[in-house]
Amino acid sequence: MFSNFKRMKRIISPSVLAADFSNLKSACEMINRSDAEWFHIDVMDGVFVPNISFGFPVLEAIKKHCTKFIDVHIMIVHPEKYVKRFAEAGAQMLTFHYEAAENPDEVIELIRQQGIKVGITINPDIPVESLKPYIDKVDMVLLMSVFAGYGGQSFIEETYERLKTLKKMIDDLNPKCLIEIDGGVSIRNSKQLFDAGANVLVAGSAVFNAADPMQMIKNMLNS
Ligand code: DX5
Ligand code: ZN
Repeated sequence: MFSNFKRMKRIISPSVLAADFSNLKSACEMINRSDAEWFHIDVMDGVFVPNISFGFPVLEAIKKHCTKFIDVHIMIVHPEKYVKRFAEAGAQMLTFHYEAAENPDEVIELIRQQGIKVGITINPDIPVESLKPYIDKVDMVLLMSVFAGYGGQSFIEETYERLKTLKKMIDDLNPKCLIEIDGGVSIRNSKQLFDAGANVLVAGSAVFNAADPMQMIKNMLNS
């Protein structure tokens, strides 16, 4: 799936955070049947972000039922301590916060050692340029379009400008690197984001609160 990654069209990565946690199996089955190629799993520690979501056992349970690519976004301090466990629990891509890492190069290396894909991300208040030293070392940059911590927030419009800057950096330094956008993504902005160079759109509430989640995924892909 990753060999012709960048040529690959658009990807929707529905965020589990907006799913019904009492029935994650059916959320996985819906994703499996849908046109979403990825499933976005948000892990929050209550320290890096004010909210706590869930940990390894829940990821393992999702992995058991999900046939799609497991895209794990960790909003935790000391990401270096947990890389191996996330990989063992089923992460196929592990995306950590630049702001939460004392040594981003070390985290990137640890993720690589696990043989899984590496993503790096920043909150909306961190200059995109901070990522410059890492662009050629990662498979994906996740640009947060809300402050990490909660689902259901409004999309921050400045993201378009940041996306433009990021796209230019990636085109110059590592054209194979994917761009993912996360937070407040919906059918109202999906076209504009894809057109501006985003490869992967995370959508929590837009998908799971839709009357027909599978149709919504299709609509966003075709927007
Ligand atoms: C926020 C998470 C997001 C969140 C997106 O910290 O990283 O993945 O679930 O939710 P929506 O799409 O509802 O903004
Ligand atoms: Zn996320």
